[in-house]
Amino acid sequence: MTTATPDRFAKLAELSADEVVTHSFVRDVPISGGKTLALVTLDNGMDHTRPNTLGPQTLLEFAGVLDEQKERASRGEIAGLAVTGKPFIFAAGADLSKVGEIPDRETGLQMAQLGHWALGKLSELGVPSFVFINGLALGGGVEIPLNAHYRTIDSSVPALALPEVFLGIIPGWGGAWLLPNLIGIENALKVVIENPLKNNRMLKGPEAFELGIADVMFEPANFLEDSIRWADGVISGRIKVKRKNEPGKIERVAKWDIAIGIAEKMLASRIGRVAKSPYRALDLLKAAKSSDKKTGFAAEDEALADLISGDQFRASIYAFNLVQKRAKRPAGAPDKALAQKVTKVGVIGAGLMARQFALLFVRRLQVPVVITDLDQSRVDDGVAWIHREIDELLGKGRISRDESNRLKALVTGTTDKADFASCDWVIEAIFEELEAKQSVFADVEKFISPETILATNTSSLSVEQIGAKLEHPERVVGFHFFNPVAVMPLIEVVRTPHTTDAALATAMETAKNLRKNAVITRDTPGFVVNRVLAKVLGEAMHAVEQGTSFDTVVEAVRPFGLPMDPFVLLELVGLKVGAHVLDTHHAAFPDRFFESKALHELAEFGHILEKDGKGKVKGIDPKAQAIVDKHRPAGATALSADALRIRFEDGLADEIHRMLEDQVVAAAEDIDLCMILGAGYPFQMGGVTPYLDRVGASERAFGDTFHHPPIRGVE
Ligand code: NAI
Repeated sequence: MTTATPDRFAKLAELSADEVVTHSFVRDVPISGGKTLALVTLDNGMDHTRPNTLGPQTLLEFAGVLDEQKERASRGEIAGLAVTGKPFIFAAGADLSKVGEIPDRETGLQMAQLGHWALGKLSELGVPSFVFINGLALGGGVEIPLNAHYRTIDSSVPALALPEVFLGIIPGWGGAWLLPNLIGIENALKVVIENPLKNNRMLKGPEAFELGIADVMFEPANFLEDSIRWADGVISGRIKVKRKNEPGKIERVAKWDIAIGIAEKMLASRIGRVAKSPYRALDLLKAAKSSDKKTGFAAEDEALADLISGDQFRASIYAFNLVQKRAKRPAGAPDKALAQKVTKVGVIGAGLMARQFALLFVRRLQVPVVITDLDQSRVDDGVAWIHREIDELLGKGRISRDESNRLKALVTGTTDKADFASCDWVIEAIFEELEAKQSVFADVEKFISPETILATNTSSLSVEQIGAKLEHPERVVGFHFFNPVAVMPLIEVVRTPHTTDAALATAMETAKNLRKNAVITRDTPGFVVNRVLAKVLGEAMHAVEQGTSFDTVVEAVRPFGLPMDPFVLLELVGLKVGAHVLDTHHAAFPDRFFESKALHELAEFGHILEKDGKGKVKGIDPKAQAIVDKHRPAGATALSADALRIRFEDGLADEIHRMLEDQVVAAAEDIDLCMILGAGYPFQMGGVTPYLDRVGASERAFGDTFHHPPIRGVE
């Protein structure tokens, strides 16, 4: 590196003493007319499991190399410069664990400025610059190409994305200004805002090319050679680059602001206004319409500095680590060598839940699945549904015809429990009634081997009691799926005092083979997700019964950032189910969970929300309001949104603290993991416990915090 580190970045460079540096290796490639192309390869010297990342040292080295090449260009030694990556990987962006350690806003600002300073050199070489996107490109790994003059892409690139908004920041090394000016505002909105919020959707090579992120696409076989030849053509003037999506005058005058307005409405209705990063990104994209590059980059610097040092980014990093690391090594899991093989699955019940997970078992485990219900017609109905779903997978090209035939043949229906004899895993999802579940298990036990695991999908009954009538209760385990099964990534695996390590290990391995994340919980009412949600729903119903308006309740919970308000959630799970969940918790903890007679009557009535013809919520149905009013006790008092919010927060902090004292799960991290994976709790909020610490609820409720130190920004 020949360039000295500018003083303003010295603190950053110090901070990254242990960075795994991605080096910039240069070699000269001869091109036509006796000219030379300088080819920079980014490579951190590790295998593909450790992708190239972009920390401060990496950026400083990259900048130094570009300065050297600029000098060579001025001497006429090179006619162009291209950057590419190591095999399969271009660059996976900033090293998040490092960014999470940034100590103050000033250092955050430097991080943004360093990126602009280093990557910006690609457009100041005095010769054309190219990036050959040969593999995975994320975040800063997309901004390197954006800062260059031209881009080629390999058609086999598996993932290209700007995921910043998903993590609580914005594309701040040029992405927010350069991208809309390259591919148009609507396409840029898709990449910067829509995709990150769709569970961090990523683009494949051809999609990125279609959007105009790259100028040309080549097949993997000769990607580098083809890219060099193409760059040669551009340098020599033989190839003229046309950009079909580059925004013209009409787009800027007529379309830009409208597209931003639509996106803003979509955002507000989908995620509310708590998450800051998507709105900051929207502001930057809006300003990119008419601001020059320098102004655009300066605005990115400020936005990135604000967000990097704020609470939501810290919470996102915490959530990211939970999902990336803790979810993969569940706390309290026994040695997986104890897990028994699952070669045949029995499913009891063919209703809403059972048929969905029967399909999942056959797809993921590829073993025979036998399903039963009360009578032949219910069995036939369930099997027919599974067959239709398999046909749909075939129709969408997700599975081959061979596989669809094989899967269908693996699923059989029966009304005779003797057909469960050779199953090594049996799971029930019949009516939520203790005696029914006890007797169905006792019945099956007559036919199966003593080692066969008996799993229950109960959401509120005691798993221990469900197994109480068995000869071998030690094989019983809770296996609680969330609806819709195909979409929700969580399974709560419930261990009773009798559950053996072998049964638990089998459940954990089975969850993994189903490609779900499992969290181990104790056998207590509602396990994790339903108990936390029951607290919120119970308080919400109590508040409206006390005379607080529905709107005030919705306003009170808004700062939690939950994906939907309590009444929308109640309608989604079904009012009857909701009332049942509240009853269960009230029965178990009568002093802390309300029972709601009004909710039972609302369940009979059918709904709470009034909707228009298209299903859009208009407000509270006046008849539902009348039902609630009828149940108002004498002396009831309505609360303000602020007072109610504090009541919600303190109640939640108290309940979660009790759950941890009772060892329902191993740690606060597991509660957050469950809420993120099982209740769609947004990343930017980092789950519920960091939030409760931040707002002071933990201190108020139990005089301490869940996390030491609390997870908060440095503003
Ligand atoms: P459902 O009513 O759709 O299905 C229950 C099925 O079990 C029915 O087809 C019924 O005929 C059958 N059945 C009843 N007694 C039977 C017996 N003795 N032998 C064989 N089949 C029998 O109910 P759903 O919603 O699928 O719930 C089932 C279980 O899953 C419950 O324990 C529920 O708490 C739990 N659960 C439900 C969730 C949901 O969102 N609906 C989510 C997670 C768990």
